[in-house]
Amino acid sequence: MPSIEVIKGNIHKSVPDSTYEIFIKPLYEKVKDAGLGTKFDPDVHLSCKAEDIETLKTYTLQDLGITNPKRAVNDFAACDPLPLFTQEAIDIIRREIMTESTFKKYARLANLSTSALDVQLGGFTKYGTSPFLKDALSHPRTLEVFSKVIGLQVRNFCDFENGHINFGIKSKEQAAIERESITEIEAKTQLFLKGDSSAIDSVVNWHFDSNPYTAVIMLSPTDEMIGGETALTKGSGEIVLTKQTPQGSVSLVQAGAIRHLALLPFCVTERIAIAQALLPADPLLNDVTVITTIKPSVLHRTRYNEFYPDWIEYRMGVLEARVRNLKQTVRKKADNGEDFDQLETIEQLKELINYVKGTYREFEVIDEGLATID
Ligand SMILES: [Fe+2]
Repeated sequence: MPSIEVIKGNIHKSVPDSTYEIFIKPLYEKVKDAGLGTKFDPDVHLSCKAEDIETLKTYTLQDLGITNPKRAVNDFAACDPLPLFTQEAIDIIRREIMTESTFKKYARLANLSTSALDVQLGGFTKYGTSPFLKDALSHPRTLEVFSKVIGLQVRNFCDFENGHINFGIKSKEQAAIERESITEIEAKTQLFLKGDSSAIDSVVNWHFDSNPYTAVIMLSPTDEMIGGETALTKGSGEIVLTKQTPQGSVSLVQAGAIRHLALLPFCVTERIAIAQALLPADPLLNDVTVITTIKPSVLHRTRYNEFYPDWIEYRMGVLEARVRNLKQTVRKKADNGEDFDQLETIEQLKELINYVKGTYREFEVIDEGLATID
């Protein structure tokens, strides 16, 4: 079974009050009056125009030389940054996520954080703490933007996963020191791009996301930021960096199919970004979603007793749709006078069984080898 710390919501990985007081509160003070009571309005707060999407540069898995991806849903790989939210929207979102009660309750140390300054916030929009952000991320017009770029209708994962925020914070002194060493940082970046992964640190090592698509929405100014980009591994093993995503813009990646990591940002005091998990909206499409990188024993911000009910709700919702589809298809064929196809039906029933197995296969009980789950 998972440890007692995991079941209790990883509160042992809560962020020290001093981190809030010293680093977050001053940022909050700048936006504390931003759009109080303002509701998300796509006509006002979405900044991308139809022509922005039409002219957006996108890359396919083929472009990256990824010819045999294990968990790809379609051929979309990544895109250049696209304007998404206005400055007013960004300020309101920053106010909501840096409100003291929200931050202190839901923030957890990032897994590899050694400084208490790499922090993740998740599973909070469902509790009414941040109504603007919740609506901004789940509005059909926002999802329509993502869907057009990806080339497939997408949906958000589940309520708990709505609005995962990565905070990378550092002192003004540290940022100033880094600004003195830009040449060195750039040289290290070049080494990194040539394959020396140890040349530059990252918050999370090379990985595939649990969900198929991820929208990275930048909440911090990036004019002076060095680093902070997403590095993608091409089919050849070569590494490419995505373009820096400016504040208010979004970059989309099929992060479940492409090995990637986010480089640490240098020369700035903050890199705050939303990493929004997206899935195909059609429940009948191949569902490659797993929870390898987000389950509560792996990601501190995922709280056991709140995440798993949402995970089950999402998986069983997909299963319901698939069961209904099988039932209706068999009935329709019979009504049309077609023979009943045993072998095909067995295959479809096996798929349903595998989907159920995939729902519990990654529960923590397996990690400690206490149960054999087939
Ligand atoms: Fe990722």
